[in-house]
Amino acid sequence: MRRLNISGGRPLRGELKIQGSKNSVLPILAATLLTEEPCEIRNCPDLTDVRAALEILEALGCRVSFDGQIARVDAGSAAGTKIPDELMRRMRSSVMFLGAILGRNRSAQIGHPGGCELGARPIDIHLRAFSRLGVSLLENGGYIHCHLRQYLPQTITLIFPSVGATENVMMLCALMPGETVLVNPAREPEIVDLQNFLNCMGADVMGAGSDCIRIRGVKKLHGCSYSVIPDRIVAATYACSAVSCGGEVLLSHVEPEHMRLFLAMLQDMGAQIREEGDRLWVKAKGRPNAIPLVKTLPYPGFPTDMQPLLMAALLKSRGSTVFHETIFENRFRHAGEFLRLGGDVQVEGVSAIVHGVNRLHGADVYASDLRGGAGLILAALGADGKTRIEGVEHIERGYVSVTECFRKLGGDVILTED
Ligand code: EPZ
Repeated sequence: MRRLNISGGRPLRGELKIQGSKNSVLPILAATLLTEEPCEIRNCPDLTDVRAALEILEALGCRVSFDGQIARVDAGSAAGTKIPDELMRRMRSSVMFLGAILGRNRSAQIGHPGGCELGARPIDIHLRAFSRLGVSLLENGGYIHCHLRQYLPQTITLIFPSVGATENVMMLCALMPGETVLVNPAREPEIVDLQNFLNCMGADVMGAGSDCIRIRGVKKLHGCSYSVIPDRIVAATYACSAVSCGGEVLLSHVEPEHMRLFLAMLQDMGAQIREEGDRLWVKAKGRPNAIPLVKTLPYPGFPTDMQPLLMAALLKSRGSTVFHETIFENRFRHAGEFLRLGGDVQVEGVSAIVHGVNRLHGADVYASDLRGGAGLILAALGADGKTRIEGVEHIERGYVSVTECFRKLGGDVILTED
């Protein structure tokens, strides 16, 4: 069993370079299917999800190579249309390959991605948009068979600004004739990064980051070399560590513009923040101020992925915070583990209230999902005594060298296997 062994209770102090964005590089890797020429993706984080995405590309007929920093994809002979079920199960966000496979080969088969620890994770918004754009859909035996007969360019309104559905439509339409307008799309920075990558390949996409994206299909896309944006959720994780433990951290390769609301909250909690270009300095001491209400919303609202991280940082706050989780129906599984560390968190449906306590103590805890697991590390580092965290594989889906990174900041974190 692999475990993170943490001895907490001491302030952190150190510097760290932030990895490339997982949630940006995954759709960008899918989009490499849209050209027969080679693409080079720089600042590509070495994560289990990225390795799974590269395996999917290989299964579809691409030649791929990855040195831990730069991923190279040659989709010259990528005639595949079926994502292997084993890979679908390993990474549910493989659904974002649908748009690119359809855009390239006009048909696609995937196993229904199924739910995860955060909730049912339906894909109805993706499929409704595809159907409106002329894709015929047949679901049988847990598989979804898609076939694009006649593309129907038009205006599509998403009933919810789904990140994955927005990305799928952008990739499907890039090579389709005519103009497609996407109303109420997701506005996350990762959507803008995908637009920039598509345009770097010669696509004609405008409006990403706003409430309306316009895609004019082109006949062909060419290969390109592209560098992925920094991971704002990972940056927020390490920034939060200065608050959950006290101390000061200096993060480089950060885009503060992508974290405005989060940084404002850290300041309200009493942290000192300084930005210089792509460097972010965070210093905090003692118990943070509580924030009365934290409500997760689609970007530019407070990101759901930062909710477990902020909750960890508020466990020893001077006061109480109410969290409303509006994006996922089951995203408080970390709360029970925080209780084991001495935190005071009460969950009621999609709301949770945190009453700050004076101290936390070490315990054995389990990480059931990626960001909840990161939150457990933050809480354990701010707890007196020893904590052992199981479920490390969940955390490694999104954090490159998580043990080394926290050790660079002065955290006593050791990965053991027994
Ligand atoms: C992306 O997931 C991210 N993953 C998630 O990050 C992130 O939490 C989420 O966006 C919200 O920001 C990647 O980018 C790989 P959604 P995605 O479609 O695209 C419902 C992490 O920790 N919905 O915006 O799956 C859905 O059930 C991960 O890095 C439908 O009902 O998110 C959820 O409640 C976790 N029908 C909400 O919308 C649909 O067809 C948000 O989903 C699609 C979504």
